[in-house]
Amino acid sequence: MSAPAETNPLLEGLRIRRRPDPCILVIFGASGDLTAKKLIPALYALSVRRLLPDRFAIIGAARTDEGDDDFKARMKQAVKDHARDPYDEEAWQRLAVGMKYVTLEFADGKAEDGLRDTLASLDAEHGTQGNRVYYFAVPPSAIGTLVGEIAERRATEGWIRLIIEKPFGHDLASARALNAQIQEHYTEAEVFRIDHYLGKETVQNMLALRFANGIFEPIWNRQFIDHVQITVAESIGIEGRAGYYEQAGAIRDIFQNHLLQLVAITAMEPPIDFYADSVRNEKVKVLKSIHTPGPRHVVRGQYGPGFVEGLEVQGYREEEGVAQGSTTETFVAAKLFVDNWRWADTPFYVRMGKRLARRETTIAIQFKRAPHPPFEEGAAEGLRPNVLLIHVQPNEGISLAIGAKVPGQGMTIRTVHMDFLYGGAFREGLPDAYERLILDAMLGDATLFTRSDEIEEQWALVDAIVGFWQRDRPAFPNYAAGTWGPVGSDELVHRDGRSWRRH
Ligand code: NDP
Ligand code: BG6
Repeated sequence: MSAPAETNPLLEGLRIRRRPDPCILVIFGASGDLTAKKLIPALYALSVRRLLPDRFAIIGAARTDEGDDDFKARMKQAVKDHARDPYDEEAWQRLAVGMKYVTLEFADGKAEDGLRDTLASLDAEHGTQGNRVYYFAVPPSAIGTLVGEIAERRATEGWIRLIIEKPFGHDLASARALNAQIQEHYTEAEVFRIDHYLGKETVQNMLALRFANGIFEPIWNRQFIDHVQITVAESIGIEGRAGYYEQAGAIRDIFQNHLLQLVAITAMEPPIDFYADSVRNEKVKVLKSIHTPGPRHVVRGQYGPGFVEGLEVQGYREEEGVAQGSTTETFVAAKLFVDNWRWADTPFYVRMGKRLARRETTIAIQFKRAPHPPFEEGAAEGLRPNVLLIHVQPNEGISLAIGAKVPGQGMTIRTVHMDFLYGGAFREGLPDAYERLILDAMLGDATLFTRSDEIEEQWALVDAIVGFWQRDRPAFPNYAAGTWGPVGSDELVHRDGRSWRRH
């Protein structure tokens, strides 16, 4: 039997202020990959920790025909395969007791009709008081119609919250149109646009590092920082998602959302408090200040065949479902400038890609060199500039590269690392981002979700980049799987007399 929430050591790492109100969570797209791999395992983790409301039910909805029992059996297997905790029958039963599946045709205008009876019977059986969380784990094209239908049938009692998966639109125009459709029926406080990177512990820790420690903020600017490097490297390929990825590419899949959020959190001014709008106001200012990079400052790539972690893998064009001569990029590197007083002329070099040498998401803050090393010639040859490295994943933690004297006679200086590892400092494994985000949405806390204006600023930048890509045909593939991307990526930083952080 787990301990009550407030004393349970498993809760370390999750912010617990209160239990969410009773509610029903409706997942549209319940037959999909995300539901099985992320959403249900995250809900199970919340059930293990007794963080879900006492009165709670789940409806899985999709077009695929499935009965309640088959859905539950599939979700139970998903928990066994993907949850971070060992399987516990009692925790599963707490989750499964109010679980139903509804087969829906999304585009026929009857989606909410199909749900109505199930919602009403669950309200009656579980006392969920008409409160609803609708999770849209469906392609963006399916969202617009659904939000309208739900609004039309909106119950008179209870609150409503919409959680919307990425990608939110395909470009600025479609994102604006989707925002307009949503805003016709809902207030911004009812809308929770997911960027799961914001739910990662280490991304939130960036805020703690910057704003809970007096030592960093005075030096967090152009006077002391030479440049910033952000890497979102994945060793996996497209994992059978060609239909989506062919349309998205790395620029829409990672740059538009996860990457720009990492830039915003690194560059933002201190918010006056940690309420949703205060934090998001500061992030929007950064996004607005990002100068559109010219063609020379953006490099794109696509992987060819190669070896990743010792295994031979095929090239992107050979992946199932990818067009033979596809020009979809699987890699992007860019040099960005945040044009404000804090960051003017300080480059943010960013890169992201699939089938790179290994999985690694890092933010590296490279400080300027000491102005005058008073040591004998050659003594500090092995010394590199100070770097504060935030390991977002894996091996979550922070490392500071400093110069230290090599023990022994004379004065020789070398770079050493001071490391803080999450695993060593805290007892509990890190919660998955979706645990945090689903719970926050149930609690009505939008701090870790993207606001409509943030999304639109992100798309404006992507549209500008994609605009000049249309002028030429890239010579793809231009990097071998298992490497760190195309040569152009190195050239981008070498031109400035810098290089990507060594791996
Ligand atoms: P899948 O393709 O595996 O599943 C999509 C789901 O949406 C299915 O349940 C499908 O069900 C339903 N669906 C598909 N097309 C339509 C349509 N035109 N109208 C209504 N429903 C439709 O996708 P994922 O589960 O991987 O992704 C779902 C969403 O989450 C996407 O927006 C994706 O970008 C996002 N996402 C996914 C991640 C992942 O790791 N998988 C990571 C981050 C975001 P049915 O055909 O039965 O109706
Ligand atoms: C998703 C992208 O948003 O993020 C995927 O659609 C990518 O392509 C994934 O693999 C990476 O997430 P994480 O949490 O594994 O870094």
